[in-house]
Formats: sequence, structure tokens, C-alpha cells
Amino acid sequence: MHKPVLIESVLSHLKLKAGLIVLDATIGSGGHGEAILKAIAPGGFLIGLDQDEEAIRRSKERLEKIGGRFSLQHFNFRDLDLAVSALHIRYVHAVLLDIGVSSDQLEEGKRGFSFQKEGPLDMRMDLTKELTAEHLVMGLSLKELTSIFRQFGEERYAGKIAQAIVTRRQQAPIKTTTALKTLIERAVPQKYRAGKIHPATRVFQALRIAVNDELEALREALPKAFDHLESGGRLAVISFQSLEDRIVKQFFVKQKTLGTGTIVTKKPIRPTDQEIEENLRSRSAKLRVLERN
Ligand SMILES: C[S@@+](CC[C@H](N)C(=O)[O-])C[C@H]1O[C@@H](n2cnc3c(N)ncnc32)[C@H](O)[C@@H]1O
Repeated sequence: MHKPVLIESVLSHLKLKAGLIVLDATIGSGGHGEAILKAIAPGGFLIGLDQDEEAIRRSKERLEKIGGRFSLQHFNFRDLDLAVSALHIRYVHAVLLDIGVSSDQLEEGKRGFSFQKEGPLDMRMDLTKELTAEHLVMGLSLKELTSIFRQFGEERYAGKIAQAIVTRRQQAPIKTTTALKTLIERAVPQKYRAGKIHPATRVFQALRIAVNDELEALREALPKAFDHLESGGRLAVISFQSLEDRIVKQFFVKQKTLGTGTIVTKKPIRPTDQEIEENLRSRSAKLRVLERN
């Protein structure tokens, strides 16, 4: 089951106490949500969003066991303003965004997020949307694929991998995670294959970001989350890769410059060695916190 990362730091930096209204815009498997719900009881209210209906179902089951007041809704966090106003709420005391994929999503082969699991090239977090990774792999031009791998994966062999995809798909469709993984392994030089991370890591990340329009959604969500914070309220964002972290950092610096926000974490908070040992997925996590003036 998904283990919530940096949980103690999240709880303490959000300054949670009984009676507060909190928005967890990435409720996922409800790990942070459960801890938040306990911290704001009695009298608190938790709003949980996720663009994955399966996550909403999972977290609902979990939170119902805790009790307390909460509302879970299937929303992309880029539309969090609509979700919050539908509940007739204007201001919340704290917002959490724990972005990226959950371990539960990664573990499920049929979702296609992981090259370590056999599955269709899907990668949609929101299954009501049409565009899948297979559509991109099979439909984009050489130039477009190269650009996605470079931009969203910072992949140095972007061109070589894109070329291998284009050549292969002329012979047969590329439909599965393992087919793409094998193709990538063959397309990159031997020394790269023996590197620290698997050569398919960056391409899979890039496709996932493109399928879910992740960076744009984050850019849209941050000002909306901040706008719904009451004065003194805090926004905590956990990111797992440098592209997201850059967007968060720039947004925080902008609020500081405008005098609308105070950066609470001068440097991002990282997991301890012990947390990384217990939960490998936490190793790239960075937590940044901004307070509304
Ligand atoms: C890292 S997990 C969150 C885990 C959660 N904090 C927990 O402790 O169980 C990220 C979740 O955010 C969701 N997500 C990612 N991007 C989203 C977006 N733009 N809108 C809504 N949910 C999103 C994913 O579907 C996933 O369930």
C-alpha cells in the first residue's frame, strides 16, 4: 500500500489543529488524508480531490473507518476552485499537493505507469479522458516524440529513442509497457544501460507527464490553491522531480516578491535516510511550504 511521504513534516508545517478546514488536492490512497483528518478532529473538515476515480474509492474506504467530516471528489486539481466553491467554501486553512503517481497506481500493471510491470501503454490518471501513452507513441512525429522525451524526461538519448520508436511502429504497433521498455534498452548505448537508473525511466516519466498534462495542471493549480488560503494559511507541495519542483519554487518566489506570501521552507525538506530506507519511493521527494500573508 502507498506510504505517505514526509508525513511528520507535512503535519507540523501545516500547523494543523482541531476545527480547521483542509484541502488535500491529491488524496491518493488517503495516507496523508487520514493523518490530517485525525489532526483536525473534532470539528475539522477535509476536502479530498483526485483525478483518479480508483483513488477516490480507495481513500473513501480508508477515511470512513476513521470517521470525522470529509468530502472526497473526483476532480483534477487544476479545477480545485470549482470543487471548493461547490461546497460553498471560500477559504481553507491549509492545502496539500503531493503530486505525481502513487505506489498503488504504479503497482497496478493494467494502468501502464511502470516499465517493471507488463501492461497496456495507458498511463492515464483519469480514465474518463481519451488520450493514452499508446496514442502518443503511435501517433506523434519523430520531432514531437524527441521534444517530449527531452522536455519532460530530460532524456539525453531522446532522438535515438524516438527514432527507434518510429522505425519499429512501421512494422508493428507498440502497445505494451514491456514492448516499449525493450525497444528503449536496445536503442541506447551499452554504457547507458548499465547506469544508475533504468534507461526507460525518463521516457516513461515524459510520456506520463504528457498524457496527464501534469506540468500545466500544476501551473494552473498553484495560484488557485493560494487564492483559497486564508491569511496565515499554508500551502505544502511535495514534488518528485526537478521540473515540478522548479514550477513550485518559482511560484513561491513570485508570491514572496509580490509580498503576498512568506516562504516557510528556505530549502526544500527532504526525507531522512531512515525514511528512504523504509520507503524507496520517497528518495526524490521535496517538500516546500508557503504561508499566505
Ligand atoms: C503521490 S499520490 C498521493 C498520495 C497521498 N498523499 C497518500 O498519502 O495516499 C498522487 C495522487 O495525485 C493524483 N494526481 C496527480 N495529478 C493530479 C491532478 N492534476 N489532479 C488531481 N489529482 C492528481 C494521482 O492520481 C495520485 O492519486
